[in-house]
This record gives sequence, C-alpha cells and structure tokens, in this order.
Amino acid sequence: TGGVITIDPGFKNTGSCTSKITFLDGEKGILRHRGYAIEELTKKASFLEVAFLIIFGELPTKSEFKKFEDDIKSHSLINEEMKNIIDGFPKVAHPMGMLSSLTSALTAFNSNTVDINSKEEMYQAIVKILAKFPVLASWAHRRNDGLPLNYADNSLDYISNLMQLLFRIPTEEYKINPIAVKALDELLILHEDHEQNCSTSTVRIVGSSEAGLFASISAGVSALWGRLHGGANQAVLEMLEQIRKDGGDVEKFINKAKDKNDPFRLMGFGHRVYKNFDPRARIIKNAADELFQDLNLNDPILEIAKHLEEVALKDPYFAERKLYPNVDFYSGIIYRALGVPVEMFTVMFAIGRLPGWIAQWKEMRENKEPIGRPRQLYIGETLRPFKSFEER
Ligand code: SDX
Repeated sequence: TGGVITIDPGFKNTGSCTSKITFLDGEKGILRHRGYAIEELTKKASFLEVAFLIIFGELPTKSEFKKFEDDIKSHSLINEEMKNIIDGFPKVAHPMGMLSSLTSALTAFNSNTVDINSKEEMYQAIVKILAKFPVLASWAHRRNDGLPLNYADNSLDYISNLMQLLFRIPTEEYKINPIAVKALDELLILHEDHEQNCSTSTVRIVGSSEAGLFASISAGVSALWGRLHGGANQAVLEMLEQIRKDGGDVEKFINKAKDKNDPFRLMGFGHRVYKNFDPRARIIKNAADELFQDLNLNDPILEIAKHLEEVALKDPYFAERKLYPNVDFYSGIIYRALGVPVEMFTVMFAIGRLPGWIAQWKEMRENKEPIGRPRQLYIGETLRPFKSFEER
C-alpha cells in the first residue's frame, strides 16, 4: 500500500503474529506453555500430555488423554512403500535430510491438505503425524546403521515406544529402562515449543500458502537442521569432543569464539531471546547430573561442558553480550548417555518440537493469517538497455 518499509534482517525486531501458545520473557528467563510454567510441566506432566496442552490449549482430562493416545497408536503403521524411499538414500545421508524427505513423502499416502473448517480432518492429520514421525525418525537412524527397521509397539507409552523404535534389536530381549524414559520424556518436553523460532516461523510461512501440515513440518525439519538452530546440539558434542582431544583446553576454544577473524562460535551459547539463562538449559543441566548418578555414568564430556560454561560465564566478552548456555548446550550429553548417535541429536530435537510446529501451524490456519510475503529494499542496478553478445 506504499507504506514505509523497515528492513529488519533476521526479524530481530519484528513480531510476525499474535499467539496464545507460548510465552517467553528473555530478560527473566521465563518459558510458559498456555500459561503453565515449564518447570512445572517437566516435573508433573508427560511429553504427550504437554503436546495435547500445546496443540489444543488445555491439559487433557484422563479420558481425553486416553482417546488422544489411542488415536495416535491407531496410526502408527507406515505404508510399506515408504521403504522404497528410505532404501533410495545413500548410506551417508544425514538423518535430518532423510526425515525431511520421508515426512514430505507422507503426503503421498495421507491427505496432506487439511480443510481447517473440518475439526475432524485437522485432528486426523495431527494424530497421524504424531504417530508416524517417530517411526520415520527411527528408520533414518536404523537404516544407516544397517539395522532392521522397527515398528511402533502400541503396548508402550509414547516415549517408551520411541526408545524401542530407536534401540530395540529384534533378536534380543528389549528392556525398557524407566530412568532413561523419564530423562528423555523430560528432555523432549523442554523442546516442544518456543514461540516464533526459525523452524516454527518456517512451518508457519509454508502453511500460510495453504500447503498442508505434513509439507509444512517437512520444511520445519530442514530449517531446524542448521547448526545455528537445532543442529547446534550435534555441533556442541563435536566441539566438546574436539576440546577433549585437545586435552580439555577450554580457554583455547573460548578465545577462538571471541576472535572476530575466526568463524568459530561457542556452540550451545547465546540466544536471540534469552539474554539471561535459558531456563531449559538449567533444567537439562540438573537432569544430566541426575541421570549420570542414576545410571552410575561418568562421562568426561559432562565435566568439560561444565568447565567450559564456568570459564565462559566469567569472561567479559560473553557477559557483555549476554551469552549464556542455551537448550542445546547440555541436551546432547543426555542423548549420548542414552545411546543416541550424535548425528541423530537434531532428529531428537525435531521429535520434541513436533507438537509446537503442529500447534503453531494450526493456530496460524485457524486465525486465517494472510500468506507470508515480506517486501525488500531494492539496491541493485537502475534501468539499463539490453546488450547483444557482440556488445558485451
Ligand atoms: C536454538 O530461537 C529459538 O528459540 C531457538 C531455540 C528453540 O528452542 O527453537 O531456542 C533453539 O536454536 C538455540 C540456539 C542454538 N544455536 C547455537 O547454540 C549456535 C551458537 N549461537 C549463535 O550462533 C547465536 O547466539 C544465535 C544464533 C543463537 C543467536 O544469534 P543472534 O541473536 O543473531 O545474535 P548475533 O549473532 O547477532 O550475536 C550477537 C553478538 C555478536 O557479537 P558482536 O558482533 O556484537 O561483537 O554475540 C556474538 C556475535 O558474534 N555471539 C557469539 C555467539 N553467539 C553470539 N560469539 C561467540 N559464540 C557464540 N555462540
């Protein structure tokens, strides 16, 4: 309409929507879902219960939760033709690339266009993607490890099923470890939604063109893959391993991170919104300590992470820029303790973030948000006449 256009790279000072799902206070380090504090949700609710809250707006009654869980289980089978797709990937394919492709491929087998006027059609799309996403995620890992592809075990809860999908070896007795399940459930609750982060904004903008839910989630997986976003949890472990190989010299890496001529950044540090501690990092750090005690583990990587955090937080460079550990700094240490391979860490983040992507997509469509189409400030060539080959 010819109004003033402000250029805001990275949308650092732009609000893209109104939302009732998640509240963040970056200064105070507050995170709430539908008004409930993250500290309470991780301690008192399960991952799937929080998913219900985030998606539908209220904590479920017992019967609502049972129906939700049963409906998800009723969709946990994957069309066998999907194996043709996974077999087509080179053995070196990254699981995030496989997950994004497999999620998009689901549109071939399940009505992907969601008529938002049909509550039932919306609900069916939601329970289908919640059911199939963890199975496809586990296939990405097992196929690259040459393991047989597992199917969902509907006798188990959502997180126990995820564990057996990832780790069960068909020829052996698989025992669910309740300590590991509790740690993973709590960890994934901390990933469920985070207002308008990069991948969620991607899911919203793709959905704003009326692309379906599965196609929008597939785009979200790709956005999450980047190491400045969800890919950071894998990058943190690779950084900590590097520090360990270097004899634990955290100061060397902190100096590299401060050196503007060095592209290296301290992975797992800093956040666009949190200019104080990321409340999730605090919870995960404690959960890591508890898990290591419960499983009687001793991993030098955890000590290196704590030492790195301690030295960095004392350094003016980080303090001046309000750079604190974020959700990705300690999460990989727990995944590693649970036996998740490092290239699957970001896939675990995607499994955790799926309910938030669904909820934000649903809210955007129900609010009938317009198609996302920002403007720009043109700084290229002014008008000029065409030149033939001879004149160039
Ligand atoms: C997630 O948005 C979300 O909510 C994301 C997330 C979610 O739940 O969805 O919380 C998940 O993505 C967490 C972030 C994971 N990424 C990393 O850990 C990668 C390392 N961190 C950064 O690259 C960075 O801190 C970001 C990407 C997280 C935030 O970047 P911003 O807000 O664009 O900040 P910036 O790049 O403008 O940095 C501001 C200053 C710069 O220095 P100056 O130019 O002012 O001198 O801080 C410096 C940066 O160089 N800086 C870092 C740093 N992060 C920022 N310097 C060294 N190491 C770092 N990690």
